[in-house]
Amino acid sequence: MGAVSIVPAPRVGVVVVAAGSGTRLGAGAPKAFVDIEGRSILRHALDGVFAAPAAQVVIVAPDDRQDDAWREARAAADARIGLVSVVPGGATRQESVAAGLAALAPEVEVVLVHDAARALTPPDVFARVIGAVEAGAAGVIPALPVVDTLKRVSGADVVGPVDRSELAAAQTPQGFRRAVLEAAYASAQADFTDDAALVSDAGHVVTTVPGDALAFKITTAADLDRARHLVREPVTPAAPALVVPRVGVGTDVHAFGGDDELWLAGLHWPGEQGLSGHSDGDAVAHAIVDALLAAAGLGDIGTHFGTDQPEYAGAHADAFLARTVTLLADAGWRVGNVSVQVQAQRPRFAARRAEAERVLSAALGGAPVSVSATTTDGLGFTGRAEGVAAFAVALVVPA
Ligand code: CTP
Ligand code: MG
Repeated sequence: MGAVSIVPAPRVGVVVVAAGSGTRLGAGAPKAFVDIEGRSILRHALDGVFAAPAAQVVIVAPDDRQDDAWREARAAADARIGLVSVVPGGATRQESVAAGLAALAPEVEVVLVHDAARALTPPDVFARVIGAVEAGAAGVIPALPVVDTLKRVSGADVVGPVDRSELAAAQTPQGFRRAVLEAAYASAQADFTDDAALVSDAGHVVTTVPGDALAFKITTAADLDRARHLVREPVTPAAPALVVPRVGVGTDVHAFGGDDELWLAGLHWPGEQGLSGHSDGDAVAHAIVDALLAAAGLGDIGTHFGTDQPEYAGAHADAFLARTVTLLADAGWRVGNVSVQVQAQRPRFAARRAEAERVLSAALGGAPVSVSATTTDGLGFTGRAEGVAAFAVALVVPA
């Protein structure tokens, strides 16, 4: 009987700092209460926060906007969140976070600190941060690679390059084990711009999880425009293209006959009797063509290589296979690999098996081809050396 292990989720508290004045935005009101398409920045932020599995949400708001913050909290509140608190902020972000921490309920073990100004942060960023703290990290930040080319400057002069591969842009929510964050706050000697800096300064390792472009901070009027635009016309992420390979199977049989020498598996076999057929009767190549066309859903060999096409009279494997690769490419496919088995009493394949694989692979533009050969213990038409049979399986993948 299987056992079910239940890992208790750590109790998560989210401190939402919304007590800033929004000087750079210059919208005539504290930033958290500026409107985006009918809802305040704080309300948008809370919609994301309440989607996270939190035991408590603490909203830190300007002293004179406590009632407004409560109103937004009630509008956004979700029954799943046990406790919602609103407290007044301080003169700096750090003081506001400290005020939020002081309001955390005793049972909270993991603390997320989130800027209300990152109003459009998607819920999965919260989930990633919580997951990383749950997995044992002392501190976790969502981060994005830096895309701009950066320079070190002194006044107006460029004094050196900056290797951007060493840099990451930090976002929120930032997550911490509660004891780590509280101790770091208790001993903080300076003012830091984010909580990760403070926790690093206290000697803890802070790790990153992928951030999200939507978690950008609304700082300037241009940021507010961008947020309004995104709320009006949300960007639906394109579904990742499904790369579905396809398989196909093909067989072919040709009888020995005629005066020509044998061509089989793309090789010329001097001294061996040839196979009869419109082309060279190379059953191995024809089975491969059928398998490839079937995999790509392009019909079979008769669809593309009729006896009415004089250019294929006497043609060898390379002509058939090259044309097949082109047909596949036109339909958006490339060859993954091919496995082909030939049943023949003769010729003896063992000594030329690897050579056949190389020649067939080259004819398919380099895709791997495996060739195996067997006799049939004297049974059937192949056992009586009346002809040869070939069976192929091919894999094609979207080009
Ligand atoms: N914050 C806060 N208390 C402060 C300062 C900032 O709670 N004393 C919060 C802001 O409300 C914001 C987040 O910290 O959600 C990030 O700060 P920032 O973007 O700088 O916002 P403001 O300080 O409001 O803007 P500005 O610096 O332009 O005045
Ligand atoms: Mg500020």
